[in-house]
Amino acid sequence: MSDSVRFVHRGQVVCLSDVPPTRTVLDYLREDRAARGTKEGCNEGDCGACTVVLGTRVGVLGMSEAESIQYRAVNACILFVTALDGKELVTVEDLAGPDGTLHPVQQAMVDHHGSQCGFCTPGFVMSLFALYHGEAEPDRPRIDAALAGNLCRCTGYRPIVQAAREMGREPDAFAARMMETLALLRSIERGTTLSHAGGRAFAPATANELADLLLAKPDATIVAGGTDVGLWVTKQFRDLGTIIHIAGIRDLARISWTKGFVTIGAAVTVTDAAAALAPLYPDLGELFRRYGSEQVRNSATLGGNIANGSPIGDSMPALIALGARLVLRRGNIIREMALEDFFLAYRKTALQQGEFVAAIRVPEPADGRIFACYKISKRFDQDISAVMAGFGLTIRDGIVTEARLAYGGMAGTPKRAAAAEAALVGRPFDAASAQAAADALSQDFQPLSDMRASAEYRLTVAGNLILKWQMERGLPPSATRVPSFAHVVGGPV
Ligand code: FAD
Ligand code: FES
Ligand code: FES
Repeated sequence: MSDSVRFVHRGQVVCLSDVPPTRTVLDYLREDRAARGTKEGCNEGDCGACTVVLGTRVGVLGMSEAESIQYRAVNACILFVTALDGKELVTVEDLAGPDGTLHPVQQAMVDHHGSQCGFCTPGFVMSLFALYHGEAEPDRPRIDAALAGNLCRCTGYRPIVQAAREMGREPDAFAARMMETLALLRSIERGTTLSHAGGRAFAPATANELADLLLAKPDATIVAGGTDVGLWVTKQFRDLGTIIHIAGIRDLARISWTKGFVTIGAAVTVTDAAAALAPLYPDLGELFRRYGSEQVRNSATLGGNIANGSPIGDSMPALIALGARLVLRRGNIIREMALEDFFLAYRKTALQQGEFVAAIRVPEPADGRIFACYKISKRFDQDISAVMAGFGLTIRDGIVTEARLAYGGMAGTPKRAAAAEAALVGRPFDAASAQAAADALSQDFQPLSDMRASAEYRLTVAGNLILKWQMERGLPPSATRVPSFAHVVGGPV
């Protein structure tokens, strides 16, 4: 068993054995390391002022896929220090050369006047640094996506976008010392469970170790990406007791394709899940583009979204409409269930003590099946849904043989619309049946009014989305993609 968190920073391995289990990377940097370039704005993952970059070793040494470091931006304010284990940490102080030469990203920000008060600037620079290392020539949508999680109140985004377009391509110090960093990352790779903070923080290395640990500590809090759990600490000041980190478990971080299903492990990030699922279901790709921000998606998991059991989580209605299944594990007992059966009541799920979500199985597209999903929120980027809809139909010889309409934000759980589905089955999917389904929704849902939307708005928009889907069917995707000021994602697949 390993007893300290080990990560690479500034070309050296850092070992921490007594860091508190819920110490955030932001507090560690600013208070313990006096590295105050990384700023605290919202402390809840929204503003991006605290953005740092994590480097992960990818590829296999000596195999056809070259070994390299993948750099991704994350929010330090809701990331616990344990999550650094096995990674390289890069902060804004680390970018310029020893002689003060600016990194190409920083130089581009200077050249294009991308900073005024400067408070947001370190966060933007770090998001751009990750983009610089991820993309040779990012286009405008890619740049917008990379910067959607960074808020600036004074400069305006045009100069920053311009800087992103002209970051230059000269290799930086990070590329130059990649081989040394890879050697350090290899040296801190862990084959066993990490246990630190006096036995209050664990990070198992395998799913088997996790299963055993959870049987021994059934009350422990599981942390995957921490994008929900982090806020319990920074905003609600909750004591989480024993914490078990699962983000570093390799066999839960796999995506596999078997027997008509794509299986997404519980430690797969939303970023990686989106990359696997978007080619199959373009609407899912659009949905994930509006799921938090790049920083959130780089940490968050689908498993966390589901296990959290929120009625307004984005992935569930879409996955239910696709007929996704959940793989749960307790000790050596593995069971599988339809995703919709997992949600029992408001924030109450079918997870038993000591059980965890191991994977999500998403069916591959099939002949005769159509799918769409729509996110309704007040803001296009980085906003929680007022209503989230996922629609799936199987159509044979022009007649609907199976309907799966699922909604978030309409009830205490993500839920299928049984009456609306019944209004579609056995009929062609035309304007009349779509209207009948929309009308039937009032039998399925009595939504609440809250600050996101009124009950009446929710019911109206939920029905209108079925009509919209029916009208959009058959149109090319370009005709159905909405402009960026609208609040609707989607179009038929
Ligand atoms: P964690 O925070 O690690 O865990 C969440 C819960 O699930 C905890 O109860 C944890 O114990 C449990 N858990 C995690 N993994 C497992 C497992 N394998 N087995 C059993 N239990 C487990 N959500 C959306 O749906 N759409 C959005 O647009 C969106 N935007 C966001 C924007 C911001 C700024 C933030 C901070 C959050 C946002 N979220 C959004 C919420 C959050 O990002 C998602 O719910 C995310 O998918 C949670 O995943 P995680 O891995 O971070 O979960
Ligand atoms: Fe705002 Fe971290 S401080 S996202
Ligand atoms: Fe002031 Fe962006 S430069 S907030």
